[in-house]
Amino acid sequence: MITLKTFYDEHPINETEIIEKLEADGIARDAIKAEDLTRYDQDHYGGVSATDALVKALAMEPGMHVLDICSGMGGTSRYLAYRYGVTVLGVDITESRVEGARRLTEMVGLDGKVIYEVADASRLDVGEARFDRAISQEAFLHIPDKEAAVSGCFRALKPTGGFGFTDWIATETLSDDARRFFAETFAAPRLIGLSEYGEMLEAAGFVGVRAENLSEDWRVILTERLEMFRSLEKETVSRFGRERFDTYIRNYEFFVAQITAGSLGGARFVAWKH
Ligand SMILES: C[S@@+](CC[C@H](N)C(=O)[O-])C[C@H]1O[C@@H](n2cnc3c(N)ncnc32)[C@H](O)[C@@H]1O
Repeated sequence: MITLKTFYDEHPINETEIIEKLEADGIARDAIKAEDLTRYDQDHYGGVSATDALVKALAMEPGMHVLDICSGMGGTSRYLAYRYGVTVLGVDITESRVEGARRLTEMVGLDGKVIYEVADASRLDVGEARFDRAISQEAFLHIPDKEAAVSGCFRALKPTGGFGFTDWIATETLSDDARRFFAETFAAPRLIGLSEYGEMLEAAGFVGVRAENLSEDWRVILTERLEMFRSLEKETVSRFGRERFDTYIRNYEFFVAQITAGSLGGARFVAWKH
């Protein structure tokens, strides 16, 4: 069984990998800019276009204070800061991701605009009514108590606040065996459907909830992403070992097969506090 910590401590997208790829592109470590990092630091499907879509749906404006829930290596937090002029607090439960995010952010001089805290999203303690917007990408799949995370986000938003996120969604054809597989290999212990998410957001107090099914887009993106992970064989094997690489690829193949079969998909949700 792979724990969340192992999953992210040994993830193919990591700080060293990002920097080495940029160096291979001919950019010296001390010359790396935020825009350069964006090429390799986006750990969600669809890269910055997926973030742009959330920003648009959330009518994000310069000067806003944004909470990035499960910020990982900080790719989205940094992008929001330099592209949209907002300030960001990123929270993530995995210490190695937060430490990496802090170093990368400092490296490109965005540490005055983006800060990170180690925190469990299902026990958010970031202050009440503090944020104009909250965002999260491909992370709620890992959270068993999604209700607590959604309620914590609701509390953290100002009265005019909005929450936009993307996540995996399960369909009725997702088998119990597949659910067990995702719990044990992707640290995804409880996958829920599109309408269940909508009901959960409303139960937490959110209004104007909109959900968009992105499953077909994700099928294409994830098939390409599998190829990208395959292409990282040499680097991943040398960093984490042959067994970890082979297991990762086998598991990802199963994941893509479930998406292709329509048992799993993805969706974007936007919800408002007022
Ligand atoms: C696929 S990554 C996405 C990172 C980031 N949102 C991005 O798009 O680049 C998922 C992240 O969720 C974090 N995570 C999982 N469960 C969490 C929890 N309960 N609280 C906070 N972070 C969590 C993981 O540590 C990981 O960094």
